[in-house]
Amino acid sequence: VWEDTVTMGKIRDHMSRDHARLDALLRRSVADPARIDRAAFQEFRAGLLRHIGMEEKLLFPAAARAAGGTPLPLAERLRADHGRLAALLVPTPTHALAAQIAELLATHNALEEGEEGVYAQCERLAADQIDEIVARLAAAPAVRTAPHRDP
Ligand SMILES: [Fe+2]
Repeated sequence: VWEDTVTMGKIRDHMSRDHARLDALLRRSVADPARIDRAAFQEFRAGLLRHIGMEEKLLFPAAARAAGGTPLPLAERLRADHGRLAALLVPTPTHALAAQIAELLATHNALEEGEEGVYAQCERLAADQIDEIVARLAAAPAVRTAPHRDP
């Protein structure tokens, strides 16, 4: 029981902190209504793509393996959101695009962060590997981004 109380919550904390960091970068990138802070947006973009990779390549597969190969119930929905987010990161950023990204992230992140959210599900499934998973998440490499492409 002691071990549970110190370990449970670590994935949720780690990933939720990354969400908060990314939210702050996105807010900073659009703080001036007259221009986009391109440096802040670039840090947000690279960070969000890394975060998505951490979930798709590391966290969700680890949870599915722990569940005997059964994907998380929300895996498909989350993957679809990730695809939409990645697509919104392709064009040169505008305030309108950033608003769409923020709106999508608000519902998406809530599915992951809650008491019964996906991160908590992952911790319950892979309860004996939480520390190892957090270490691998923390060590996930930075993502190299492609230049923006406009239609
Ligand atoms: Fe996600």
